[in-house]
Amino acid sequence: MQERIAELRAAGEAAVAAATTTDQLEELRVQHLGRKAELPNLLRNVSDLPPAERGIVGKAANQARQALQAAIDARVAELAEAELDAKLVADRVDVTLPGKPEPVGGLHLLTRVRRDIEDIFLGLGFDVVEGPETETVHYNFDALNHAANHPARDPGDTFYLAPSPRLSGDIQRLLRTHTSPMQVRTMEEQDPPVAVVVPGRVYRPDSDATHTPQFHQVEGLWIDVDITLADLKGVLLSVARSIFGADRDIRLRPHFFPFTEPSVEIDVSCHLCGGTGRLRSGERCPLCKGTGWIEILGSGMVDPNVLSAVGRPEYDPERVQGFAFGMGIERIAMLRYGLTDLRTLYENDVRLLEQYA
Ligand code: PHE
Repeated sequence: MQERIAELRAAGEAAVAAATTTDQLEELRVQHLGRKAELPNLLRNVSDLPPAERGIVGKAANQARQALQAAIDARVAELAEAELDAKLVADRVDVTLPGKPEPVGGLHLLTRVRRDIEDIFLGLGFDVVEGPETETVHYNFDALNHAANHPARDPGDTFYLAPSPRLSGDIQRLLRTHTSPMQVRTMEEQDPPVAVVVPGRVYRPDSDATHTPQFHQVEGLWIDVDITLADLKGVLLSVARSIFGADRDIRLRPHFFPFTEPSVEIDVSCHLCGGTGRLRSGERCPLCKGTGWIEILGSGMVDPNVLSAVGRPEYDPERVQGFAFGMGIERIAMLRYGLTDLRTLYENDVRLLEQYA
């Protein structure tokens, strides 16, 4: 009997020593010490033995059981630690990897410039709104104080739409030639004070290195009870610096637009030559053509006739005033990215985008 106990103990200990996983050890525990295992059964049946043997067999079996249990416990502890180490290595996170996959492709330059301009104006407290690309003669010209014989109304300068039975009435429609119609539409919708920028597509029948029949503008409008030309200058100086660099300057040149009075064109000091008109080499600056200044937009104080055209007492020109401006997104993109031909923006050659990714 004792021999059998020694055998069971030796076999158990050998199996435990050979086990390589905690799962295997659990199986061994059931096999050698479980309810159906031989050793515990021996122990359970000790009382059936002749009294003389009971003590010796019982003691040996008990020792064997305890020894096996201890061997399993010790090996489990050993393997559990090794298994945890292995799991930690396998699950290791490389915190130096980029958090997101590398972006594929890039935004079009016009989209980037438009978003940058929107962000700058949002930062100054303006809202961003959008308007229709097909307009009526009323919003595109009449309400904006264009005389009946204004040259922009000519079919050679404006795309007129053929009358459509699907559009109500016999109102003449066109593809808007500028974003300025949104000045009046915004004032019809919102009470003063208003401060909005309006990005969007506009259309004119022109096509050459600096004109495409469809292009983009951002309109700006700020109306309140005490807006002056000084506000116009302050806002546009800040915007010019955000776009072209903190040490830029602007100048106002008298101009004419039917819907602003006075009207000014805004020039920004050239960011290529620092406004000197000469490159470091002494060559004439090719960007500003030696003048030190670059025209970036048209603007002015909103003409009282435009405020009256809104037809709402809230926009009584005796009470409120403000300024408007319109800038070409393509023009800003060309200046910023040094493009010489506007049409490259529309050729969809991805190499252009990759250059500035
Ligand atoms: N709408 C004008 C243009 O397209 C620009 C402009 C807008 C001028 C607002 C003054 C005020 O040329």
